[in-house]
Amino acid sequence: MNIILVGFMGTGKTVVGKKLAEILKTKFIDVDDLIEQKEGKKISRIFKENGESYFRNCEYKIIRKVSRFDNCVIAPGGGAILELENVLNLKKNGIIVCLTASHEIIYKRVEKNKARPLLKVDKPLERIRELLKIRESHYKQADIFVDTSELTIEEVGIKVLKEVVKFRKPEQQTPSPNVIISCLGFKELGFD
Ligand code: S3P
Repeated sequence: MNIILVGFMGTGKTVVGKKLAEILKTKFIDVDDLIEQKEGKKISRIFKENGESYFRNCEYKIIRKVSRFDNCVIAPGGGAILELENVLNLKKNGIIVCLTASHEIIYKRVEKNKARPLLKVDKPLERIRELLKIRESHYKQADIFVDTSELTIEEVGIKVLKEVVKFRKPEQQTPSPNVIISCLGFKELGFD
């Protein structure tokens, strides 16, 4: 079973994903990184030279592949959940965790990073509001929600793991709760 981190740009998918993979001693898969490797150029260049629908097609193909992996932490880009097929593929062997944050915090986190083509506009905060509104119902398809606004990376990681352990059905025992619990300690997870 994979742990899938979805959520809007700037909610912490990549940093939290790396932290989780480190704690669980497993692999972290960044879907945008794989697209960049495959295409041999940065996401912003793909958008500029090939357009968004080309990018979404690359995203779909990579997600279909990584959905077959097991015991990984996977972070698709913030718009991947707009495509229902992506959600269905990811859910086949994954628990979907949606990271959230307030509009203002998202803005603060992304304002200096020019790598996000969808936010290269005159009024990025307004754009963030608009996109979040459009995407709200799509993010609701996640299994678990964690608000990262006021938490450190480690705190988000621990919260995600606690929620994943609570959510997991007995037959979905990989990575086993024992692995998670032994990494974090029983007390920290509140199961004593
Ligand atoms: C996008 C989010 C980006 C990247 C692309 C499109 C989106 O990933 O996939 O720029 O539509 O929200 P991050 O969420 O990792 O920034």
